Amino acid sequence: MDAEIGTDITKSAELLKSGSVAAIPTETVYGLAANAYSEEAVAKIFEIKERPFFDPLIVHIKPGDDPKNYVAYVPPIAIKLMERFWPGPLTIVLPKKDIIPDITTAGQNTVGLRMPAHTLLQQLLSILPFPLAAPSANPFGYISPTSAQHVFDQLGDKIPYILDGGPCNVGLESTILGFEGDKPVLFRLGGLALEEIEQITGPLKININQSSNPSAPGQLKSHYAPKKQLIIGDIEDLIKANPAKRISVISFKQSYEAENIIQSHVLSQEGNLSEAAVHLFKALREADDSEAEIILAEHFPETGLGRAINDRLRRASFR
Ligand code: TXA
Ligand code: MG
Repeated sequence: MDAEIGTDITKSAELLKSGSVAAIPTETVYGLAANAYSEEAVAKIFEIKERPFFDPLIVHIKPGDDPKNYVAYVPPIAIKLMERFWPGPLTIVLPKKDIIPDITTAGQNTVGLRMPAHTLLQQLLSILPFPLAAPSANPFGYISPTSAQHVFDQLGDKIPYILDGGPCNVGLESTILGFEGDKPVLFRLGGLALEEIEQITGPLKININQSSNPSAPGQLKSHYAPKKQLIIGDIEDLIKANPAKRISVISFKQSYEAENIIQSHVLSQEGNLSEAAVHLFKALREADDSEAEIILAEHFPETGLGRAINDRLRRASFR
């Protein structure tokens, strides 16, 4: 089977209603979707991604949908965050209702809910009688896809259809927020900047680095990882330290010259971190697929989406 790439939401809906998976576009990254209510359909996601069964899926709901259909309790701050940032790249983890089966949340009694901002996906959700469970549409541990072609390259032989919504305009997975009682806690840095959330919540407790915590496997130290070695640091120093290697460089706004640089990715010539985020995963993929022997990446400014970019680069470099 080779996946068809197309823009047909009716076909996508029919597949999903019949219990199949389909790849879907979102504003963050492409997802591998199935009926969130169906144990059999959700099991296919885990199989295809080779994803460990302890890793919970995010449930995507349509605009106008009431989160209380899926969760037992919504803290007041969560309501404010939903009003401000939904639809958009923010996932909120709350105590789940029984309508969401245990397999979808990998046995957790909470569910991550997200209302995506992508128009084509919203149209699809609006004609479905169920929400969509969807992790990023990549084999477990690899770089997330930001185009239909990326999905095809890695999962094309395992899925029937890829709904093509164009390149993702955020480019990083959603920011994930959970709660301890009524107090918000940041679980994953992502496409919504920490500063924006803190305008509503005040200073956030951050809990993103416990690699052994099975409740947040996206936080595993090694994740989003290319097959090649990736080193983060001062590019000129790293070039000097690796004179005999073919190099692919990922940098923010500056470009570097050296004989052994065979590929160079400047993520935003204007120095715009949101633009850099859009291009990050594509650059990582191209570097990984190139003839380069190592990938060198700059450390990005630790502000706005730069934090999430650094987080992904760190995990990509860990081995
Ligand atoms: O932007 C995104 O979030 C994309 C698009 C497709 O929506 N999805 C995505 O899913 O990145 P995935 O499965 O690759 O990452 C989801 C992360 C996992 O690390 C998982 O542990 C965490 O969300 N998560 C989901 N439900 C959770 C829960 N109930 N408690 C704690 N963490 C949860
Ligand atoms: Mg993922």
